[in-house]
Parts: sequence; C-alpha cells; structure tokens
Amino acid sequence: MSENATERRLALVLLALAVVGGVVLLSGGLTSSADAGSGHALVASSVCEAQELKRRQAEDPSLEIEIPAEFNTPWPTWEACRSHTAAEDPDAPGPLQPIQFSHKHHAGDFQIECLYCHSDTDRSRMAGVPSVEVCMGCHAQFPPSYDELEGIQTLKKHWEEQTPIEWEQIHRLPEHAKFRHNRHVQAGFDCQTCHGPVEEMDKVYMTEDTHWWPWMLPTQKLEMGWCVNCHRENAASQDCYTCHY
Ligand code: HEC
Ligand code: HEC
Ligand code: HEC
Ligand code: HEC
Ligand code: HEC
Repeated sequence: MSENATERRLALVLLALAVVGGVVLLSGGLTSSADAGSGHALVASSVCEAQELKRRQAEDPSLEIEIPAEFNTPWPTWEACRSHTAAEDPDAPGPLQPIQFSHKHHAGDFQIECLYCHSDTDRSRMAGVPSVEVCMGCHAQFPPSYDELEGIQTLKKHWEEQTPIEWEQIHRLPEHAKFRHNRHVQAGFDCQTCHGPVEEMDKVYMTEDTHWWPWMLPTQKLEMGWCVNCHRENAASQDCYTCHY
C-alpha cells in the first residue's frame, strides 16, 4: 500500500515535470497557432469548457480566450470534468452507472479512503456501496457552480426525493456461494488483491486474474478456481462447506 503511494507520488512528479517541460517547449517553439491572432477569441460556455480553454492557453499564451464571469470559478476542476466524462465512456470496460462517479478522482486524486465509503468491509459480510447521505456529507458543501455536472444534478435529485441510487453491481456471486469480506480483510489482503487498481479507474470493472496459477489453467475472478487456488496457497479451508451452503 505504501509502495503504491510512493509510486503514485513519483508518477505525479514525473507528470508535473512533463507538463512543465511541455509548456516551456510550446511557449518557446510554437508562436503561430491556428487560433492565434485571428481576432476571434474562443468563448467558454461552461465552467468545464473554461477550464479546458485556460489549460490550452497555459500551453499556448497567444491563444485568445474569453471566460464570462459566471464560468470563471475554480470548481469543478479540470480533473473533475475529465473524470466525469471518462466515467460515462460507453467504450471503457465495466457497466455504465446511473451517476458518472469516478474512483480515480475520489480514491486516487483526493485519496479518500476506501473504507470511508465502503465502511462495512472490515466488519460485515458485504462491503456495500455508500448511501446518498455519505455523498452529500461532502457535496452539500460544494459551491453552486458544481451543479453544472450532470452527475451532481442526479445526486441532488436523489437527495431531494430521498430515493436510493441504483448502482449496477459488478462483483456478484451466485446464491449458493458464500463470501465474507471481513475474514479476508482481517487476513491482511488489500482490496486491490481482488479488485485491481480501483483508485486508477474512472469507471469500475472486474479486472482479469493475472496471477500465474499452477497447471497453467487460467481462472476468472469470482470463479471457484480463483477462490480455491488462493485458499490452497494460503493454507485456508478448501472444504466444500466453507464456501457452499
Ligand atoms: C469525502 C468527500 C466526498 C465524498 C464522500 C464524495 N465526494 Fe464526490 N467529490 C469530492 C471532491 C473533493 C470532488 C472533486 C472536486 C474537484 O476536483 O472539482 C468530487 C467530485 C465529484 C464528481 C465530479 C467528478 C467525478 O467523479 O465525476 C462527482 C460526479 C461526484 N463527486 C459524485 C459523488 C457521489 C455520487 C458520491 C457518493 C457516492 C460522492 N461524490 C462522495 C468529494 C467527495
Ligand atoms: C467517495 C466514495 C467512494 C470511495 C472513496 C471508494 N468507493 Fe468504491 N464505490 C463507490 C460507489 C458509489 C460505487 C458504485 C458505483 C461504481 O461502481 O462506480 C463503488 C463501487 C466499488 C466497487 C464495485 C462494486 C461492485 O458492484 O461490484 C469496488 C470493487 C469498489 N468500489 C472498491 C473500492 C476501493 C478498493 C476503494 C479504495 C481504493 C474505493 N472503492 C473507494 C464509492 C466509493
Ligand atoms: C479476497 C478477495 C477480496 C478482497 C480482499 C476484497 N474483496 Fe470486495 N468483493 C470480493 C468478492 C468475491 C465480491 C462479491 C461478493 C458477493 O457477491 O457476495 C466482492 C464485492 C465487493 C463489492 C460489491 C458490493 C458488495 O458488498 O458485495 C464492493 C463494494 C467491494 N467488494 C469492495 C471491497 C473493498 C473496499 C475492499 C477492501 C477493503 C474489498 N472489497 C476487498 C472479493 C474481495
Ligand atoms: C487472495 C486470496 C483469497 C481469495 C482470492 C479468496 N480467499 Fe477466501 N480466504 C482466504 C484466506 C487466507 C482465508 C482464511 C482467513 C482466516 O482464516 O482468517 C479465507 C477464508 C475464507 C472463508 C472462511 C470464512 C470463515 O468465516 O471461516 C470463506 C467462506 C471464503 N474464504 C470464501 C471465499 C470465496 C467464496 C472466494 C472466491 C469468491 C474466496 N474466498 C477467495 C484467501 C482468499
Ligand atoms: C474457496 C471457496 C470454494 C470452495 C472451497 C468450494 N467452492 Fe464450489 N464454488 C465456489 C464459487 C465462488 C462458485 C461459483 C462460481 C461461478 O459462478 O463461476 C462455486 C461453484 C460450484 C459449483 C457450481 C458450478 C457451476 O458451474 O455453477 C459446484 C457444483 C461446486 N462449486 C461444488 C463444489 C464442491 C463439491 C466443493 C468441495 C470439493 C467446492 N465446490 C468447494 C467456491 C468454492
């Protein structure tokens, strides 16, 4: 976990260097741009568009942009706008969710703990998905400019109508199999061991099993072979009744 964090920090530093390098290159090299000097400033029509234009102008200072006052606010950030779009990409793996909620943004960029939202994993049978109340605990404090995002509008609609959000479940065992999060989390397994690098996903999906199991038989996550192989390697029970009713 801490190794992951160091890697992430290193990646961020490298990214920052690359961006700075890019800006220096661009401001030194590119003086003629298609948009520049034409007298037609690009006008933002939303906060997210304004963030995009500001970014482009930082790379190319000769770009003329116009940001109406109502859209000249730091919230939502460019990263939030980007994640929101990526979370509704129908071509990315994983089901489309009713709200464009990004783990990369919340658990990655903002480092909100998994257990803050999946608070029952270490204690109960089900990890569960957070309630509208948990979301609004933070989002009620956001400025009105944030309502521009469709996902936030949907969230607030559920809050006003007091209806739960019907998230698509991704990991689901059949009824005849039993699984307990708490036993596995207490045994010291990271969430990522079974769910992959969720903090890097804008849209959650079930990851491949990349573990090199014996007999070269590929297994899929949540299949019996996947469970039994790990139980065998860790000297955990392989008794049928451990996992079956
Ligand atoms: C601990 C505080 C916190 C909680 C809890 C939280 N959020 Fe957020 N949320 C944030 C922050 C911080 C941002 C990013 C602000 C920015 O960069 O503009 C954000 C951004 C977003 C965005 C825009 C980026 C994206 O992910 O698409 C959406 C949509 C969103 N949150 C929905 C939700 C929903 C739905 C829940 C509940 C399941 C939730 N949030 C819970 C703090 C929180
Ligand atoms: C701000 C709240 C929040 C945080 C923090 C958060 N999650 Fe989630 N998680 C959700 C919501 C909402 C869903 C349902 C929507 C979705 O799948 O994106 C979800 C879904 C999931 C799922 C898929 C569940 C299924 O249907 O099978 C997994 C796995 C998961 N989260 C793991 C994690 C891990 C691991 C972390 C920490 C790295 C984490 N989550 C951090 C809110 C959160
Ligand atoms: C040993 C593997 C393993 C570990 C470790 C693990 N999970 Fe899971 N997770 C599963 C399986 C298997 C399911 C499907 C459970 C079912 O259908 O009964 C699941 C389902 C989920 C779900 C879907 C909703 C639910 O409650 O069933 C969420 C959310 C989730 N896990 C989050 C987490 C988080 C957060 C962590 C770390 C604190 C974590 N998981 C650790 C294997 C694991
Ligand atoms: C990453 C390794 C790993 C995976 C994958 C895994 N398990 Fe386990 N599981 C363990 C270990 C280790 C224990 C023993 C924990 C202990 O003794 O505290 C355990 C214990 C259990 C228990 C016993 C809990 C109890 O109350 O005695 C059940 C039930 C279980 N696993 C079901 C499953 C099922 C079903 C799957 C597949 C969907 C699965 N496990 C996948 C490592 C794993
Ligand atoms: C570590 C957990 C675990 C153990 C031990 C285990 N199973 Fe399973 N078994 C599962 C899971 C999880 C599934 C559901 C897999 C799926 O849907 O692909 C399953 C599915 C099955 C199925 C249904 C197969 C199908 O195609 O639907 C049968 C039959 C079965 N197991 C029999 C057994 C027998 C007999 C034993 C003892 C020799 C055993 N299992 C031990 C976890 C386990």
